[in-house]
Amino acid sequence: MSHEDRRAAFGRTLDEIQRHEQGHHGWVVLHRALGDLLETGHRAFSRLLDAAWTARPNISDAHLVTLLSVTIRQIALRDPAGAHLFDEETDPAARLHALQRLIDTYEADLTEEICVRSNSFTGARRFLVPQLIIGGFAAAHGIDEVRLLDLGTGAGILPRQLNNTVVFDRFHRDLNWRPWTPPYRHIPLTARVGVDAPPLPTLEWVRACHGPSAYYEERFAELEWSFEQTAGVADQVVIKALDILDLPQLSKFIRDYNFNVVTCNFVLFQYDGPVQEMIERCVMENIASPGLFLLMNPSHSLLRKGCIVEGRITGNPRRLHLADLSDAHMLGHATIGADLHVVIGDEGGVRG
Ligand SMILES: C[S@@+](CC[C@H](N)C(=O)[O-])C[C@H]1O[C@@H](n2cnc3c(N)ncnc32)[C@H](O)[C@@H]1O
Repeated sequence: MSHEDRRAAFGRTLDEIQRHEQGHHGWVVLHRALGDLLETGHRAFSRLLDAAWTARPNISDAHLVTLLSVTIRQIALRDPAGAHLFDEETDPAARLHALQRLIDTYEADLTEEICVRSNSFTGARRFLVPQLIIGGFAAAHGIDEVRLLDLGTGAGILPRQLNNTVVFDRFHRDLNWRPWTPPYRHIPLTARVGVDAPPLPTLEWVRACHGPSAYYEERFAELEWSFEQTAGVADQVVIKALDILDLPQLSKFIRDYNFNVVTCNFVLFQYDGPVQEMIERCVMENIASPGLFLLMNPSHSLLRKGCIVEGRITGNPRRLHLADLSDAHMLGHATIGADLHVVIGDEGGVRG
């Protein structure tokens, strides 16, 4: 696709993303201004987009929108000229002018960031689902040692949170399973490892990935609280820089450490279908048996709130449908998928 076609598609994604169900996410005023800027043909902005598409031809439009928003927010947080960029009260013409100036001034910084960074938004509640499914998998398959690898771990919170009942109990009550709730089971964890692409995301970067709104302030506070609550296992958790697109390295890493449970949450949707399949194949060819590969992804790219939970187990060629969530922040409803019993067994759930 030519950059001209990509620009048109990018404009359509900007329009759609403004109609996101989650109206309180705080980014919408910036997305509107970016749409206006695109229409003006602003030169530094055009160069920025061209640089991103050249450096990362596989990047999805939705991911590029979020990445641009985060890098702009990071700069707006430190430069007083960007202070009112995200205020709802700012006049649209003044916002557009401020955005043009910010992009003109920081074109080099923005280009560098969007060519190497990823959106590292991390949800403190996301571990609720892996806790239940991995616990059920280990129990149903008689596994007494779970060696966990979390791909695209972000700030590395999931490997810390598993088996923490204080954190689980606080968040679990806001997620209603239907038609039945999988029982909580302790996971016999003997390795807690996470990897993310270099440069490893810092908590500061993850902070900028949270939208400028009270809703996201609350989500970030939950993440900080989770880090404090799980400090006791910090020395058991290993976080390494590894690009999961480097398949020989990924294969070696999985084999060397004998991982039998691999999770990959809100990562693969950032890549197109063939890349997703390549990574899935690599994991399944190298994971120890019996093994589980658990995947969570937004249901409709980034345009809707829901997410889908899928899995693969060794010895079974199918991708399994495990659950659907009404909100990727794990608030609301979780609906059991048709194949969950294959992973956690028939008697896994508490009915009602
Ligand atoms: C949206 S965050 C999700 C973080 C966490 N898994 C969660 O669900 O809360 C996606 C993460 O995937 C990482 N990622 C994307 N591509 C990657 C790659 N090729 N290799 C390793 N990590 C990658 C990003 O750096 C980012 O931190």
